[in-house]
Amino acid sequence: MSALTTRIPRRLVEHATPSVRWSLQHAIPRRALVRVASQGDPQGVLSTETTGLLPEELAPILARIRGGGAIVTGKLSTLTGEHDAVKEVLTSNDFRTGLPGDTSRAVRGALTWAASTTIGPLEPPSLLATDGPTHTRNRKLVTRVFTARAVEALRERTEQVATELLDDLEADARAGHDVDLVARYCEQLPVTVIAEILGVPESEYETVLRLGGHAGSSLDLGLDWATFRRTESALDEFDAWLETHLAAKRAQPGDGLFSALIQAQDDGVGLSDQELKSVAGLVLAAGFETTVNLLGNAIRLIVDHPEQLAALRSGKASWLNAVEETLRFDPPVLLTARTATCDTRVADVDVAAGTLVVTVLAAANRDPKIFDDPDAFDVHRENAREHLAFSSGRHFCLGAALSRMESEVALRVFFDRFDVELLPGSTRRPTRILRGYATLPARLAARA
Ligand code: HEM
Repeated sequence: MSALTTRIPRRLVEHATPSVRWSLQHAIPRRALVRVASQGDPQGVLSTETTGLLPEELAPILARIRGGGAIVTGKLSTLTGEHDAVKEVLTSNDFRTGLPGDTSRAVRGALTWAASTTIGPLEPPSLLATDGPTHTRNRKLVTRVFTARAVEALRERTEQVATELLDDLEADARAGHDVDLVARYCEQLPVTVIAEILGVPESEYETVLRLGGHAGSSLDLGLDWATFRRTESALDEFDAWLETHLAAKRAQPGDGLFSALIQAQDDGVGLSDQELKSVAGLVLAAGFETTVNLLGNAIRLIVDHPEQLAALRSGKASWLNAVEETLRFDPPVLLTARTATCDTRVADVDVAAGTLVVTVLAAANRDPKIFDDPDAFDVHRENAREHLAFSSGRHFCLGAALSRMESEVALRVFFDRFDVELLPGSTRRPTRILRGYATLPARLAARA
């Protein structure tokens, strides 16, 4: 989930004042992005003009990127939105995560006073920002917790959590109160499930939700000053929270993944404290922020297509396929990126070593070469699962099985229980790479 050539790793500017950091990381790139966006540059448009867009408003922008061919050379970056080419880049050994060597070397040279304290999701040793043996080793530590079998074992507990949340919603519905489905359901379910997996106590859920909500912007480029400050302090607070929490787990181990990671470290696997924090933090943050968006996006789309809801309720269409189709149609992650490690070719086009290729997952998901009538939402679509919403290759989402299971359960029990009227006033999140609803006001009626 990386961003752009101009992005400067936070640890390189850690000891600069906040305003210098903001200028280097956001204000200057933003000026360039706005300038090229006004000339129709696809990266500029994606980075500055997509805030809060509904999927139908985003679709023409994605179509323009695909219309530029398999590889589109923009003014600031190279992009691809064709399904085959996106997949080729994500699975190729000629690409790695992170920034182009030249850019980061130059920046590094200029900013050598910096040293790392807090770590973001896009900086090493985050799984998202490492490759090779370090990535393989750290990923393996987490993988076993998220195997299909391990996830199936959580299905019953997930349904129980969902049912408890729905009981509360039903009490509101009976009292004639409207509710915000994001705050009361879409957020609560994934945070509870991931927190239980990791061994986070219930008293901490609200803190985690608040910090996760603000930290989501750390994936975006070109933040305004207020958002930048909020995001930085959320990352700092999250970092401190993780440190305290991991220390508590070290003193008193439990069953959760956090304890397992500490155990792995103690067994001499070689995880540094920084790696431990980064792996644990990423799993926690990625473990709900994205699924929250998936649930909100799915509820909206299903309510807007009543005939498809009827097919789902009657068993003529499957809830799991509705999840896949939502991931295809309105994916929670807009794009990611890779850097070419050598001169290579993608879709028969030359790509020079050091080129950052932005892989627009949402555009690949609407590629008419793969999906018939791609701009139609259709829970019956047979190949919906070919979407790239979870990426592909070595960094394929570790939480895909968990997220699929949670969303399938969450949607089924929700729509079994209620007739839903979505009220005016829903809002989308202000983040650009992570896409979903911030609020979904609704009036619920318990079904017979
Ligand atoms: C709808 C829900 C989700 C979506 C759309 C999503 C999307 C993604 C994407 C696109 C990537 C890869 C980025 C890249 O290739 O650069 C990724 C990686 C990752 N995801 Fe998810 N994710 C979701 C849910 C989850 C959940 C529930 C968890 C944790 C339990 C999770 C944990 C991770 C981790 C740890 C990685 C890094 C894997 C690596 O770099 O090796 N995700 N996710």
